[in-house]
Amino acid sequence: MTAAAAEPGLLELWPTPLGVHRWARAEQVNPLLARVLGSLRAVAQAQAADGAAPAGFFASDDDLLQRIRLPEWQDLVRFIVDSLHATVLHANRGAWPQPAPALQVHLRGMWFQVANQGASHDVHTHGNCSWSGVYCVQVDEHARRIADPLFGERNGVTRFYGPRFAQLGGAHVDLGNAYLQSAHVDFAPLPGQLIVFPSWLAHQAMAYRGERDRIIVSFNASVHAAHGGDQLHGYAAA
Ligand SMILES: [Fe+2]
Repeated sequence: MTAAAAEPGLLELWPTPLGVHRWARAEQVNPLLARVLGSLRAVAQAQAADGAAPAGFFASDDDLLQRIRLPEWQDLVRFIVDSLHATVLHANRGAWPQPAPALQVHLRGMWFQVANQGASHDVHTHGNCSWSGVYCVQVDEHARRIADPLFGERNGVTRFYGPRFAQLGGAHVDLGNAYLQSAHVDFAPLPGQLIVFPSWLAHQAMAYRGERDRIIVSFNASVHAAHGGDQLHGYAAA
């Protein structure tokens, strides 16, 4: 959009795209996936040289795509790719030429994490990709999860920090900038839920404690034109 095209009024600029998806097969397949991932964890920890892995946290290598050969796993990967495609298409609807180009979605890495006993994953972003995602395989059911006396509603949620969070650094608060104060959002863990988010978006897995382990699958992806290059605009001459 050019400034000359703006009409008088309020512009709400630069929203943050984030896609929420639910896998219809989750209830049927997630218990199997939890067992498979548990086996991979046991193998990895048995092979660990120091044998001193923390009991409440585990993160696998990012080679799950190559490691798991199950039709149910392929179904999950297909759901993830289709969901990514839908979110990326929607997020870029004003930026891509129409009709939208044919796409290739490349999963650049996929891994899983297991947390319990108050383990967390501190604030971070993902690099060398444009989109990332987190799929919930297993967690305590809602009422039990939020009944934790220490963590309560925050127990095991995924917290995203929007771009406005960085603007809070000056700590000046008055009614005029109250719109800045909702700078983060928490997503309750829900088995079968997939959140697709821009890789630059800061996030963290809050501490979790429960009867069941919190198990999530994460991934990084890049999205390319199926034919030709990805560049939409030529470089202007200096
Ligand atoms: Fe992450």
